[in-house]
Amino acid sequence: MKIASRFLTRPDAAGAVHLTVDGEPVTARPGDTVAAALLAHSGDASRQSGKGAPRTAFCMMGICFDCLVEVDGRPNSQGCMIPVRAGMVLRRQRGLRPLAGGGEDA
Ligand code: FES
Repeated sequence: MKIASRFLTRPDAAGAVHLTVDGEPVTARPGDTVAAALLAHSGDASRQSGKGAPRTAFCMMGICFDCLVEVDGRPNSQGCMIPVRAGMVLRRQRGLRPLAGGGEDA
């Protein structure tokens, strides 16, 4: 689902960083975090909880974990703590992901 962002970006921001979100090209500002770029892009949920509830960045300071997103193939990345980079590949998370170093239950 795509919805219009409620966030405005300053028109005087210099430069642009090009990345993709679920395969869609997105432009962010240099220095933006992944979470800020997602909010500015659409304001749509950046992930779903294990029960399918929509979640998006809330605290923007690494506390709530509502901004978890897959960054360049790495799930459970805190979008509010990661600056955007050119060519970055982002995917919204649907449901739970395995813990880092984990995987299948033994
Ligand atoms: S927005 Fe709260 S941890 Fe990222």
